[in-house]
This record gives sequence, structure tokens and C-alpha cells, in this order.
Amino acid sequence: MKWKRPLAWIAGAAVAAGIGGFVFAAAGFAPIAASSGHWAVTDWFLHFAMRRAVKTQSLGVAIPPDVSLDDRALVLRGAGHYESGCAPCHGTPTTQPSVVVRQMTPKPPHLPPHIPSWEPEHLFWIVKHGVKFTAMPAWPALHREDEVWAMVAFLRRLPDLSEAEYRALAAGDAGSGNRLRSHDDPIGAVVAESCARCHGAEGLGRGAGAFPKLAGQTEPYLLASLRAYAAGERHSGFMEPVAAMLDDAALQRLAAYYAAMPAGAAEATAAGDRALGERIATRGIPERGVPACVQCHGPKEAPRAAVYPSLAGQYADYITVQLDAFANGTRGGTPFAHIMRSIAERLEPAERGAVAAYYSALAP
Ligand code: HEC
Ligand code: HEC
Ligand code: HEC
Repeated sequence: MKWKRPLAWIAGAAVAAGIGGFVFAAAGFAPIAASSGHWAVTDWFLHFAMRRAVKTQSLGVAIPPDVSLDDRALVLRGAGHYESGCAPCHGTPTTQPSVVVRQMTPKPPHLPPHIPSWEPEHLFWIVKHGVKFTAMPAWPALHREDEVWAMVAFLRRLPDLSEAEYRALAAGDAGSGNRLRSHDDPIGAVVAESCARCHGAEGLGRGAGAFPKLAGQTEPYLLASLRAYAAGERHSGFMEPVAAMLDDAALQRLAAYYAAMPAGAAEATAAGDRALGERIATRGIPERGVPACVQCHGPKEAPRAAVYPSLAGQYADYITVQLDAFANGTRGGTPFAHIMRSIAERLEPAERGAVAAYYSALAP
């Protein structure tokens, strides 16, 4: 049994190193100061380990068949969030992160030159899970993988964008048309700096179905939805951080502001089968227990309960994303959202596209 001896030595040395490490840490000598940075060799090793981990742990990730990373709606959605959720640490095409962020160890890299070295699946993994011990955060709504793919779609475009192109994608026409702009109205500033960048200056989304129309939506539904995001009961990595930073009085004013704006026009360009959509919306699918959508969402003669959102003229892309999220249990919502889960999961994907096409083409 000669071989036991070297093993015992190795085990002994490992135990001694463990105890030594513990004593070193307990005595308070661990080099934790961000100000001293990493040694070059530590830096190299940590990046090596991080790159290997991302590549191995993203092996099970695949771009879903219904996701096209060239889709303009995905790129816009990702850009809107990048500006508030990523640029403070990673900068924009030509700007660097703030002086404060540059004192972090490791420093968040200026992203454009880094993107081409990753495949989309790798970027998906990094954005979804974040990187421990580096301040790179995980996605706030882990199950909304559709949102993570939107970030990936935008990141792939980032290396080729000029600063002006970036601004146009991330902010659009946010500055114009804001009715609340005044020095003494703090809500005006929130609308200008936050909401309008994504939902457009007129509250009509920004085309392409990237962001829902809010203008003319019922006030109780807008307020209930904002509260649900703020409380983490409606899941979205785009909206939860925005709503959670505002107090309830601000949410009430925002809901009233958007409800009072003029609703837009119908969107007549969606691809789904509109005739099938109309049949489902007006009659439901009785044999599968799907009720007629018009009962709650209109159009109908009798008044509707205002906690049921209007769908007429909403973007088809957005309606489809919501129905998919209801069906796979990742949407959450107001206290009434369970109604929609059992309805959406009984619809086939083509039927969801069909009702979306029907509603988007109706005049609000
Ligand atoms: C609080 C600061 C912070 C925020 C906010 C942040 N990151 Fe990071 N990110 C980091 C740091 C630090 C690293 C470096 C990790 C490392 O050194 O391994 C990093 C790394 C990355 C990387 C890998 C870069 C590479 O090649 O090593 C990507 C991609 C990335 N972040 C994307 C994003 C996106 C997209 C967002 C917004 C959704 C975001 N980050 C938000 C701090 C941040
Ligand atoms: C970074 C982009 C972004 C910003 C900034 C933003 N939103 Fe949103 N908003 C979205 C996206 C994307 C959705 C759809 C999220 C989902 O799938 O639940 C959304 C959804 C909503 C909804 C739900 C609409 C519906 O029909 O259910 C409301 C209400 C809303 N936003 C209000 C606001 C308000 C008010 C602000 C400003 C305080 C704001 N948003 C700022 C991107 C944004
Ligand atoms: C019994 C009432 C009821 C019926 C019937 C109903 N819905 Fe809903 N629907 C709701 C409620 C309540 C919500 C709001 C859920 C939330 O966000 O909490 C909603 C939300 C939605 C949304 C999300 C809207 C947004 O702005 O995010 C879509 C899309 C939708 N319903 C589509 C449909 C379709 C399509 C049908 C028919 C197949 C249907 N609904 C039938 C009650 C209903």
C-alpha cells in the first residue's frame, strides 16, 4: 500500500493550505481593495475562467425558432433598455462609463469591441445570468427569455453603430411633444427621460411593435399594471426597474396622463389570419373552453369593466408576445391575470397570431 503515502501528503498539504487561507482571511489580510485592481496574472486567469464557464454553461442554449435576431422590434426594445440598464456601466459607442464606475474592479468593459468575440448564445447566457463577483447583474425577470433575446439582438448591432445611430435607436423622438414638460412638474421629467424613450412622445410605442401603446388605454388597467410591475408581480426586466423606482403617487399621475392621451390609429400590417382572429374574438372556441375575447376586451355595445385592457389598435407583435407569456406562465400581471393564463394556453400559436392581427387592425 505504498501509494497511500503521497496521497496522505497531498491531503495534508491541502488541509494546511485551507487552514492557512482561513487564518489569512480571519486576520483580515485578504486583498479586497478595488483601488489596487488585479495583478495581470489574476486578471488573465479570471477572464479565462469566465470565458470558459460561459462557453460550457451556454451549451444548452439555442436561439428559439420563432426568434429572428434581425427583427427591428427586438433591436429597438434592447436599445431602449441598454440606455438606462447597461450604458451607465458599459458606456455607449463613443462615451465611456462614468468616473465612479471606472473605479470598479473588474472595470465593466467598453462593450463594442468585445461583442464580436461572443456567439449570440454566449451573450444570452451572460445577460440572463450575470457574472458573480463582478457587479455584472442578472436579468431582473429571469423567465422572460424573450426579453433577454431582445438584448442580444441589440448587442449584435452595437459594434457597428455610430453615436447618432445609437441615440436614434435608444431614444427616438423622446424629447418632442411631451405635454408635462415644466420645471416644477417632476412627472414631466420622468416622462421625458424614461417613458417617452420607449413608449414614444405620444405614448404610441415607436412603431414596429417593440413597445405597447399606452395612449388612450384605460386608467385603472394602466395603474394596476404599473403597480404590478413595481411589486414584481408582472414580470419584465424592462418595466420592473422603471416602475419600482417611482412612488405610488407618481404611478397614479402617469396612469392618468397616458389614459388621457389620444389613442392612435389601427395597425393594418400584421401577418396573421385576420378572419380566423375575428371568429375567435367574437365567438371563442367553445369546444376548447376559450371564451369570446370581446366579452372583456370589446368591441361590444355594453360598457366594459375598466380593469380589462383595450386591445383595439395595439401592435400585433406586442399582443402575441403577451399571449405567449401568459401561455407559458412567465407574464404575471394584475390580480386578474390568472383569467388570461387559462385562456392563452388553450390557443395554438397560429391562433394567437390571428387574434393579434384582428385586434391590431381595429380602430381604437
Ligand atoms: C453595475 C455595472 C454593470 C451593469 C449595469 C451591466 N454590466 Fe455588463 N458587465 C459588468 C462588469 C463589471 C463586467 C465584466 C465581467 C468580467 O470582467 O468578467 C461585465 C461584462 C459584460 C459582458 C461580457 C463582456 C466581455 O466580453 O467580457 C457583457 C456582454 C455585458 N456585460 C453586457 C451587459 C448588458 C447587456 C447589460 C445591461 C442589460 C449590462 N452588461 C449591465 C458590469 C455591468
Ligand atoms: C426601456 C424601455 C421602457 C421604458 C423606459 C418604459 N417602458 Fe413601459 N414598457 C416597456 C416594455 C418593453 C413593455 C412591455 C413589457 C411586458 O412584456 O410586460 C412595457 C409595458 C408598459 C405598460 C403595460 C402596458 C400594457 O398594455 O400592459 C405600462 C403601463 C408601461 N409600460 C408604462 C410605462 C411608464 C409610465 C414608463 C415611464 C415611467 C415606462 N413604461 C417606461 C418598455 C419601457
Ligand atoms: C373574462 C375576461 C377576459 C376574457 C374573456 C379575455 N381576456 Fe384578455 N385580459 C383579461 C384581463 C383581466 C387582462 C389583464 C391581465 C393583467 O395584466 O393582469 C387581460 C389581458 C389581455 C392581454 C394583454 C394586454 C396588454 O396590454 O398587455 C391580451 C393580449 C389579451 N388579454 C388577449 C385576449 C384574447 C385574445 C382573448 C380571447 C381569446 C381574451 N384576452 C379574453 C380578461 C379577459
